[in-house]
Amino acid sequence: MSVLSGKNIVLGVTAGIAAYKSTYLVRQFVKKGANVKVVMTPSSKEFVTPLTLSTLSKNEVYSSFTNEDDKNAQWNNHVELALWADLIIIAPATANTMSKMANGTCDNLLLAVYLSAKCPVYYAPAMDLDMYKHPTTLQSFEKLNSFKNIQIPAAYGELASGLIGQGRMAEPEEIVTFIEKDILNKLPLKGKKILITAGPTYEAIDPVRFIGNHSSGKMGYAIAEVAFGLGAEVVLVSGPVHIKSKNNAIKIIKVTTAEDMYNAVHQEYKNCDIAILSAAVADFTPTEVASQKIKKKETTLTITLEKTKDILASLGLNKGDKYLVGFALETENELENAKTKLKKKNLDLIVLNSLNDKGAGFKTDTNKVTLISKDNKVIAFEVKPKTAVANDILQYIINQLHD
Ligand code: CTP
Repeated sequence: MSVLSGKNIVLGVTAGIAAYKSTYLVRQFVKKGANVKVVMTPSSKEFVTPLTLSTLSKNEVYSSFTNEDDKNAQWNNHVELALWADLIIIAPATANTMSKMANGTCDNLLLAVYLSAKCPVYYAPAMDLDMYKHPTTLQSFEKLNSFKNIQIPAAYGELASGLIGQGRMAEPEEIVTFIEKDILNKLPLKGKKILITAGPTYEAIDPVRFIGNHSSGKMGYAIAEVAFGLGAEVVLVSGPVHIKSKNNAIKIIKVTTAEDMYNAVHQEYKNCDIAILSAAVADFTPTEVASQKIKKKETTLTITLEKTKDILASLGLNKGDKYLVGFALETENELENAKTKLKKKNLDLIVLNSLNDKGAGFKTDTNKVTLISKDNKVIAFEVKPKTAVANDILQYIINQLHD
């Protein structure tokens, strides 16, 4: 899946012959699953029709502050358009538009959208070779780049004038690839390896029975998906669950028992930067596993259990500069118990969920968590879908890593 999937893109089209390529650009973005709104400068409509771009983008095309055919129609709000966008790409960007962008001129809707934008702005210049080399154009590049706009340089080749040189707008496929790569490289967890545990563990009693718990693994799997989306390399050590990851790029190690999970986690821990242990690991396991199915000969049955190894605590003993996160599922004295676990297991962060909270816990698609950091900061969140909870946890960690 492309990083552009689900993204809101404003495509700004200005008056250059390369404007015809903007039709292909819209197609490419739509194919990647993006939502596209096109904003044209008035003169660009000489080069490509709003009807074409509107049909391809499946959205209205904007080129003035009001609807030209109906002056009483609603105002095209540049601020709304700018805030709707996750990214803006101006392609083609003419020398004229770039100069206006560089100097804060605001005499059309596209420039007003640009000036109102808080999202990344890409621009793909297109013009004749001598215009491209002109000192004022070079000055525009310099200024635009110093404002953190991202240039997609023009290519070398035959130009509309028949001359050969630099000035051809990058091809639509190249523009899309450039933006995808740029987004991927800037993801906040890029270069980080995250180890996550999820689900329950099953401790065998005999060949057909086990001791387990109600964990569905949904929380851990959500953390894995969201972490991957934020650029991390993800290893998920999963107990027996009924859910599947949608993402082949996430390395999943399937385990059954607490002992298996301990071994798999230690194997992966060495190279990770962040470990988030959300699994509901069995605290006890039978001292012996019957080799044959236990028959109901007696009226009572006693199974002797012994403590499993505490995986999280063992990681805390060897923490180094890793960021270590545990979960605490509590039914009473929630905050106090979670704080004690955080200290005892030498964690950076503990995620508390209380079974007393509605919409929190094992099998639900929602959760309600409180984050407690090692410096005793407590942040309580509302009930949310588990993906949103995963995002809250990971955003908190990202902020901590950047502090
Ligand atoms: N955990 C672990 N290994 C275990 C038990 C727990 O890694 N053998 C981890 C869990 O994945 C979770 C955290 O420890 O991140 C806390 O788990 P929890 O069951 O709430 O607490 P326990 O430490 O087991 O303490 P208690 O059951 O007494 O509350």
